[in-house]
Amino acid sequence: MTRYEQIKTEIKASPKTWLVTGVAGFIGSNLLEHLLKLDQTVIGLDNFATGHQHNLDEVQSLVTAEQWTKFTFIEGDIRDYQDCENALAHNVDYVLHQAALGSVPRSIADPVTTNAANVTGFLNMLQAAKEANVKSFTYAASSSTYGDHPALPKVEENIGNPLSPYAVTKYVNELYAGVYARTYGFKTIGLRYFNVFGQRQDPNGAYAAVIPKWTAAMIEGEDVFINGDGETSRDFCFIENTVQMNILAAMAPDETKDQVYNVAVGDRTTLNDLYKSIQHSLQDCDINVTRDPIYRDFRAGDVRHSQADISKAIKKLGYSPDFKILQGISKAMPWYKKLLANT
Ligand SMILES: NC(=O)c1ccc[n+]([C@@H]2O[C@H](COP(=O)([O-])OP(=O)(O)OC[C@H]3O[C@@H](n4cnc5c(N)ncnc54)[C@H](O)[C@@H]3O)[C@@H](O)[C@H]2O)c1
Repeated sequence: MTRYEQIKTEIKASPKTWLVTGVAGFIGSNLLEHLLKLDQTVIGLDNFATGHQHNLDEVQSLVTAEQWTKFTFIEGDIRDYQDCENALAHNVDYVLHQAALGSVPRSIADPVTTNAANVTGFLNMLQAAKEANVKSFTYAASSSTYGDHPALPKVEENIGNPLSPYAVTKYVNELYAGVYARTYGFKTIGLRYFNVFGQRQDPNGAYAAVIPKWTAAMIEGEDVFINGDGETSRDFCFIENTVQMNILAAMAPDETKDQVYNVAVGDRTTLNDLYKSIQHSLQDCDINVTRDPIYRDFRAGDVRHSQADISKAIKKLGYSPDFKILQGISKAMPWYKKLLANT
């Protein structure tokens, strides 16, 4: 039995209370779905900045009526300390802090708004969680913290200079987390996500991530643009692996805390190969994509290559990423087909 299987069995037998911030977003709503299916009590906090009611509605349709009664939604803003306190006033055991404004280009266009959610909001949640004496605090960090460090694969200890305001905010989260461990003995775990993808990742808007954006364009017969020569590479991580890491981190022993962990698969896929994989997977859903992608300039703030060393998460937390990129893509494509057929 893997560590993940073991923990799931334990918490199902003895349910806990979880606070998921950013619960109406992509990763937050997937955490909600998994936790409710494990019969947990979940408090969710979101201000719908980039999240959607339809994500919550979809989770409701995927769990039993009884499981859904264990979910309490609070519409609130992490930039407001009182809202953070309110969310924690439900005897919360474990915090999974996901709320933030994602996207490198968004942060370049509007660094002040990104900073308010990602730095002030983060500090509010951290402080309120410490005051509430929660059992653990796990937060969404980011692979953008590796910045311009050239080494591959990326090892947690070696980071470079941040390349965007977004990367600064996520690094500041790690700095605050370290200070809270040293100053107050409040030890957290930061999860440096590498390009997470899967069902409920938003395909719409100027700041959509590459997989949902391309998938929607391909399904709707629109042009797909590749920034640069297509040889830029990423360690794409299916959502189920990310959910697993959050649950492992929340239940991790004290000696593994006050740390950050890479959350990825440990592979590297170029944008050119990604295009072909999505095209191929859509064929299995009876969607033929015949157009070639259109190449345009590299995008400001993007790192050229990204690939994680995931050995620390495997060794210390018992992480076992069950989904490689192709398995994840073939699981996600039918969801996008259904979504776009209904719009
Ligand atoms: N998706 C990825 O590949 C990726 C990679 C690295 C890090 N992350 C981090 O993971 C977390 C979740 O990302 P996601 O992909 O699910 O994005 P998302 O935009 O789908 O979800 C973020 C959620 O946070 C909410 N939110 C934003 N500002 C808020 C505020 N001030 N108060 C309350 N709620 C607020 C949004 O409404 C949204 O529901 C973020 O912290 C993001 O920076 C994601």
